[in-house]
Order: sequence, then C-alpha cells, then structure tokens
Amino acid sequence: MGLVSAKEMLEKARKEGYGIGQFNINNLEWTKAILTAAEEAKSPVILGVSEGASRYMTGYDTVVGMVKGMMKNLDITVPVSIHLDHGSFEGAKECIEAGFGSVMFDGSHYPIDENVQKTKEIIKYAKEKGISVEAEVGSIGGEEDGVVGEGEVADPKECKRIADLGVTMLAAGIGNIHGKYPKNWKGLRLDVLKEIQDITGQMPLVLHGGTGIPTEMVQEAITLGVSKINVNTELQLVFAEETRKYIEAKKDLEGKGYDPRKLLLPGYKAIIAKVKEKMEIFGSVNKA
Ligand code: 13P
Repeated sequence: MGLVSAKEMLEKARKEGYGIGQFNINNLEWTKAILTAAEEAKSPVILGVSEGASRYMTGYDTVVGMVKGMMKNLDITVPVSIHLDHGSFEGAKECIEAGFGSVMFDGSHYPIDENVQKTKEIIKYAKEKGISVEAEVGSIGGEEDGVVGEGEVADPKECKRIADLGVTMLAAGIGNIHGKYPKNWKGLRLDVLKEIQDITGQMPLVLHGGTGIPTEMVQEAITLGVSKINVNTELQLVFAEETRKYIEAKKDLEGKGYDPRKLLLPGYKAIIAKVKEKMEIFGSVNKA
C-alpha cells in the first residue's frame, strides 16, 4: 500500500467504528518501531511529525526520505501516512511541498474568522495534491513543542463552520490536554463530543492528548465519532523508563553495552509493545 493520504483510512475507520493511532516520531528508532508495530498488527498508521521534531530530524525532506526508505527496506505493506502535527500556516505549506500525505493546520489560537480563512487556503493548496487536512477548533491544553494551549472546550457551531470548509478530519478541544493529565482532571467532555458529532455528521474527529486517557473513555469517544487518536508522551515515557533501567543496571558498562544499537534497544522494543497495545484498544488491528 505504501505512503498515502490519511483520507481513505480515516473514512473507513469512521464508517466501521474504530480508531487509527497517530504516533509521533522523533528519530529513526521511533519511526522504525512504529512502522514495525503497524506491520505486525496489520494496522494502518499515521506518523505524526511536529515542527519541532522535524527541526530535530533536520527538516521535512529528511523525514520524508527516511520514512520512504524504511517502508521499502522493511517491506511495509500497511497504509502509512506522514502527517504534520499542529502545523503553522507556513509549515503546512512546506510539508505539502516536501511530500507529506497529510497536514494539520492548527489555527485554533486565531480568532475563528481568521482560522476559517487560513484553513480554507490550506485546503485549497492541499487538495490539488490529494493531501488530507486536519483543522482544529478550541485549543488543546498543555504544551507541545512550544505550542501552548489553554485547554478550551470547542464551540460545536464553530466546529461546523470549519468542518464545512471540506477538511478531512477535525480536532476539537473537549477537555483533553497534551502530556500527563493532572490528578484532578475531570475527564473528556463526551457530551460536547456528541454535540460536535451530531452537527458535523460523518466527519472523522480527532482526539489529541491520547496519553493517559482511560481506555473505556477512549473507546466511548470512538463510538462518538473519534477516528484518530494522537499519542506522543506515552511513547516517550516508556522509552525513557526502559533506557533508565538499562543504565541503572549498568548494562552500558558490560562488554559493548555502550553501543547505541544496544543502549537504545530496550526503549525501541517498549515503543513497539506500546503501539501494539494502543492499536488493540483503538480497534485498528487487522484493518489494513
Ligand atoms: P500526548 O503527548 O498527550 O500523547 O498527545 C499527543 C498529541 O496530541 C499530538 O498532537
């Protein structure tokens, strides 16, 4: 199947009632682990790339080149989409040029009229190249790569305005936040999610801040129209934990345990296991 836009996979997920994971990549190990997990689970997958993570990997061209090369060398057959996460207006345009299959333009921090106007322009630009577009209404709380959101609850009428522009998928703030949830977090506003679903019809909805949301709540959100769930922090946490264990057990001091291919292996394996666990929860296993 290879590299694709996220449109077909999300429309199929929306129709059949399951979710597709967007797992953010940071480097080669992350990308290899997520692609391997998707292939083993026979699940479609979306590789999320924030502008910060892209800069870390030296830029959009490197990201596209690395993913393309890995797809070929690893014989990946499941549908994979490279997706810009929380893109700026300029970033979204650059990714469309660089060969991404999907972009998110996050205009949620603009007044709604400006968000509408800018989203419209990105859609026009992306459509010519068959690229899927995610838009956002009501910013997601927490901080991700310097993008700080207040954690708003989206206005369903504003969601409808953006959905009607012809976006492929819509992210709406429903009390979700990036990173770890505070102990006193009140949970997702599933009532608002339902209103958004009612008003936007078959539009695939996106749940950001997938880390730490209880399984039943995520699955209920999927029944209410969520077709894409973004997970980033949880992979970082398992990677860090396994790497710390390796160092604390002084395995880097045994033989050639300092070799990065050995040092990064436990964290890499933990990412594969976590991605597969999420795919089970989202219901995307064997849907490729
Ligand atoms: P988490 O880091 O909370 O998993 O959120 C990821 C995300 O929403 C990426 O856009």
